[in-house]
Amino acid sequence: MAVVSSSVEGVGQSSFRFRCIACGGLSDAAGQDFRCGKCGDLLEITYPAWKETQPDAATLRSAWKGRKLSSKPVDQSGVWRFRDLLPAIEDENQVISLREGSTPLYELPQCARITGVPRLFAKHQGMNPTGSFKDAGMTVAATFARRAGFRWVACASTGNTSASMAAYAARGGMRGLVLVPEGKISWSKLSQALDYGAVTCQLRTDFDGCLRLLQDLVRQSPVYQLNSINPFRLEGQKTLAFELLEQLDWNAPDHIIVPGGNLGNSSAIGKALLEMRELSLITRLPKLSVIQAAGANALVRTLREAAGKRLISVPAETRATAIRIGNPASWKKAAHVLEATGGACEQVSEVEIAQAKAEIGAEGIGCEPASAVTLAGLKKLVAQGFVNPTDTVVLVLTGHLLKDPDFTIEFHRGQMFGGDGDTALEGLRHAPILLDASLDAVMRTLEQFN
Ligand code: F0G
Repeated sequence: MAVVSSSVEGVGQSSFRFRCIACGGLSDAAGQDFRCGKCGDLLEITYPAWKETQPDAATLRSAWKGRKLSSKPVDQSGVWRFRDLLPAIEDENQVISLREGSTPLYELPQCARITGVPRLFAKHQGMNPTGSFKDAGMTVAATFARRAGFRWVACASTGNTSASMAAYAARGGMRGLVLVPEGKISWSKLSQALDYGAVTCQLRTDFDGCLRLLQDLVRQSPVYQLNSINPFRLEGQKTLAFELLEQLDWNAPDHIIVPGGNLGNSSAIGKALLEMRELSLITRLPKLSVIQAAGANALVRTLREAAGKRLISVPAETRATAIRIGNPASWKKAAHVLEATGGACEQVSEVEIAQAKAEIGAEGIGCEPASAVTLAGLKKLVAQGFVNPTDTVVLVLTGHLLKDPDFTIEFHRGQMFGGDGDTALEGLRHAPILLDASLDAVMRTLEQFN
């Protein structure tokens, strides 16, 4: 059997199976809750045929490069361009794509000076079609939802998953059901779900409550679950790492740093790193580190207080609402990839998040608060000596600046922390200035800033 199509034409073939992350049981099909029929733990996708007909690294690299010149929609997707390492589809017309992926890798010269790490980069997943990394996973999972004949897809969300799912459901001619915690997601994200036409329910609970309810729903109704419990999502999100390594000419960085919420993205990136090593696309593993908000630090506590053996759930509270999650579903997968790559897990305060967000903004790039934990976390990892000044470090910025304008405006107006917190961050604040509409007033203001 051909495992990988080496030609630029056609669709790569990677036959796959589901494997339970706890008991290792293999199956060809998964239930609607994407849990192991025997032990109830999460499933992951595995490609057993790689062992026999291992895709050749040089062939893969050149096929991926070649597809960049193609005008076919499936090649113009920065996710499906790497389809040789994704679950196989029979026909490329099955793909639901918004030309996701192909996100920029930016240098961060000012943040490099601040942290003392000259080789510092940001992989900006906020530059995806709906403004977050979720699109990379959603194109794959939505494609498989439609292929399985589902009319309804659904998710629980802190906002970005719902925006992405609503868009891909609309593109794929499916109906979308969104469950979000009332009052705890940004208006920007909510407005996306509405505009893309999802049935949007604001539930009087938190994200963890929404996810529990969704799990019950999908066991009883023919509704396809598009949370990151769905292993097809994580396969799509792997492509961030493939693309990053391609952008670095296949020289592995020393560190990749990601925010941690429900812990799907860190699990996906870690899986991609391990697969790339298995396929000799890289010889050295970057250390993958996860940063959480101190107010939503379930993984930090799980690793520190329970040695990663059992989940310590927490009541989550943070202004970085995207990662306001206390009971992360993919904690075991994330703990595994942190261990396998030798990465760290840290937490950062609300003030540290706001400061880091402003510093990334001052680069002319910007990101949403949840993404800024990466820079705040890097400062800690440098102080601890875990990251060396000579290391190459990549921060994964998960969401666009415009995802949470309320946070940004409150910050710059000095209304975020009250008193000392805001005073400490004064040099980073740029509040709007209200003036009479006179040339004189504008000139005087200009002089003040000169
Ligand atoms: N950054 C942003 C911008 C997010 O939206 C999320 C998660 C994360 C980081 C954390 O990623 O959950 O894979 O560890 N947002 C989800 C949502 C939960 O519903 O949009 P994770």
